[in-house]
Amino acid sequence: MPRFKTILVTGGAGYIGSHCVVDLLNAGHDVIAIDNFANAVGDEEGSPALKRAEQITGKNIVFYEADLLNKPQINDIFDKHPIDCVIHFAALKAVGESMQQPLLYYQNNLLGMLNLLEIMRSHECYQMVFSSSCTVYGEPEYLPITETHPTGSITNVYGRTKYFIEEMLKDLSAADEKWNIISLRYFNPVGAHPSGLIGEDPTKEFTNLMPFMAQVALGKKPVLTVFGNDYNTPDGTGIRDYIHVMDLASGHVAALNFLGSNQVRLKVYNLGTGRGVSVKELVEVFERVTKTKIPLKYVDRRLGDITAMWADASLAKEELGWSTKLTIEEMCKYKTGCGIIKPFNITQ
Ligand SMILES: NC(=O)c1ccc[n+]([C@@H]2O[C@H](COP(=O)([O-])OP(=O)(O)OC[C@H]3O[C@@H](n4cnc5c(N)ncnc54)[C@H](O)[C@@H]3O)[C@@H](O)[C@H]2O)c1
Repeated sequence: MPRFKTILVTGGAGYIGSHCVVDLLNAGHDVIAIDNFANAVGDEEGSPALKRAEQITGKNIVFYEADLLNKPQINDIFDKHPIDCVIHFAALKAVGESMQQPLLYYQNNLLGMLNLLEIMRSHECYQMVFSSSCTVYGEPEYLPITETHPTGSITNVYGRTKYFIEEMLKDLSAADEKWNIISLRYFNPVGAHPSGLIGEDPTKEFTNLMPFMAQVALGKKPVLTVFGNDYNTPDGTGIRDYIHVMDLASGHVAALNFLGSNQVRLKVYNLGTGRGVSVKELVEVFERVTKTKIPLKYVDRRLGDITAMWADASLAKEELGWSTKLTIEEMCKYKTGCGIIKPFNITQ
């Protein structure tokens, strides 16, 4: 039996949360999921994505439509359930929107986290896995990026919310040794569960490469806009470290296991493959796997976008015993961002 039985998953109806819930249930945890549907589909029965996660695993999820900004509501959930550990995914994450509405982002992401930590402390729950991001590194000073690379020199509000939260967690864990927190800095999550039943299905307008490309493949958008083909990279397009969402999910289970047998106060790990792939390369693989032609339109670089970023993922391998297993081809196999997610077949 896992050391932490009951896991509260905030933002559980979202993209990464819903995939992680599948792995948590398969690993024998009980899952309480909450989401306010700011960026996930909800209906009168709750979260369709989590219903499909139940279908995949044959296990039940307790779900609450709840907002981290509503402290009494979250407090009630902690009163009702003996929560052993929290995986905190809930956040707003659109870089462009964060520049236009900074207060919304600071309020949701920072205040949401503050409320959660206070409620956890009052219920003597000190175990947490936090969703951070490689954006905290800003423009890389060297590659691949290790966890010791400086953070904080960030060009967008969304990234700053992650950075401020990490700083807050440093202060908190320094002040009270009971806290046991792992902050996972994700690189670029893409792909979907192999069942095709869940995937990336946001309700807000998105510009992420993979769901955008899937929409072009399905004829829902005419062309794929590529921001910049004059970067100092072999083919001129930006380079990122794309990681399959199911590999990312297994990284959370590994982090939970580690917290279960180590008192770390606060540790930070990169979750990436350790390999950089250009936008053009990713499009070529997608075209090959899905047998679809993706028309491209090159436009100017976006302000604040960086040239190249990939992880040194060796620390997570050494200490958590985790590494990625799935290939770029696997990442391209499923339609994502299209409402219903299922494998591409050869004729499409
Ligand atoms: N997807 C990425 O590229 C990426 C990269 C690095 C880090 N992250 C981080 O990982 C986490 C999950 O990302 P995702 O891609 O699954 O995003 P997502 O938008 O699909 O999921 C986040 C979920 O949190 C919910 N939420 C937001 N604010 C809330 C609040 N106040 N109360 C309750 N629920 C709330 C949203 O409705 C959404 O379902 C986020 O913290 C994000 O910043 C994502």
